[in-house]
Amino acid sequence: MSAQKLLLLPGDGIGPEVMAEVKRLIAWMNDRKLGRFELEEGLVGGSSYDASGTAVTEETMAKAHAADAVLFGAVGGPKWDGVPYDVRPEAALLRLRKDLGLFANLRPAICYPALADASSLKRDLVDGLDIMIVRELTGGVYFGEPKTIVDLGNGQKRAIDTQVYDTYEIERIARVAFELARKRRNKVTSMEKRNVMKSGVLWHEVVTAVHAREFADVALEHQLADAGGMQLVRRPKQFDVIVTDNLFGDMLSDVAAMLTGSLGMLPSASLGEVDAKTGKRKALYEPVHGSAPDIAGKGIANPIAMLASFGMALRYSFGMGREADLVDQAIAGALAKGLRTADIVAAGEKAVSTSEMGDAVIAEFSRLAG
Ligand code: IPM
Ligand code: MN
Repeated sequence: MSAQKLLLLPGDGIGPEVMAEVKRLIAWMNDRKLGRFELEEGLVGGSSYDASGTAVTEETMAKAHAADAVLFGAVGGPKWDGVPYDVRPEAALLRLRKDLGLFANLRPAICYPALADASSLKRDLVDGLDIMIVRELTGGVYFGEPKTIVDLGNGQKRAIDTQVYDTYEIERIARVAFELARKRRNKVTSMEKRNVMKSGVLWHEVVTAVHAREFADVALEHQLADAGGMQLVRRPKQFDVIVTDNLFGDMLSDVAAMLTGSLGMLPSASLGEVDAKTGKRKALYEPVHGSAPDIAGKGIANPIAMLASFGMALRYSFGMGREADLVDQAIAGALAKGLRTADIVAAGEKAVSTSEMGDAVIAEFSRLAG
């Protein structure tokens, strides 16, 4: 087995604390020859700004290009609220996504049975929930030009963001969604706003055409994105794979995340195109939760989303599906044993620390790996 090159970018807030648990799992796997991971580490976000005046350095970008996969913690915090827009912590994440061509963002929303009561919805609506949101990540209003605020000279300003999608961008994200659906429950729901937006009209047209041409065996349904958001909280289990644009995907994935009981539980994968020559694809894995500055440094953050993000790296970058399954089972096992970090603890129960949860997941993993 050739070595797998991982770049770790822990970032700000709770990022370093949850990344520490992944490092322990990786060290354990290396010791047991369950993998050959070579780690590099870099600064990103506010911590990079403090060190070098920019949210991500050229050197770190070069390391990200060279790595087989990037593991990303979280960026941002009130400390950097006043820094210039171009070097704000989030700029690092957007540049990594754009420069590495990570157009496909996979955000699973899974409700572990042990946590169904932590959801704000009734247990029977969310128990066993398993949705995959496929969010387009390098286009749309996040990157469209012009993107500016102009002074109109009459005491007024005008802010402009541009929503723009080309056919190929919609085709490739639709393919990712249909291919995933084939390995799941074979259903895709596409969400846009074709009743208001031209980009929605094209989105609908292109997804429909890709489906008819290449994926007629998969069930396809279209929902307007506002109605889709409503359906997500009304009857979430109707969904299998949801495919949508960058901005709608940002919002809908936060909604879906909360259905599962806690943002602290959900991983994500951001994937590029498969290189025809090497068969490899650029990839970045990150928890959906942010940097949670309010609880940073206290050792109480939930490391599960970060650990599960590493699990996604095993699955989507390293072809280690069995080990990825073991990570998921180890997490479910630790939860089934009753371990709860502060974000998912029920009133009156005792919460464990970040490292106690990490210990429990690694112990389960080692038991399952035999
Ligand atoms: C996310 C985040 C980012 C986004 C921010 C931090 C730029 O909210 O990954 O969902 O809006 O994409
Ligand atoms: Mn978001």
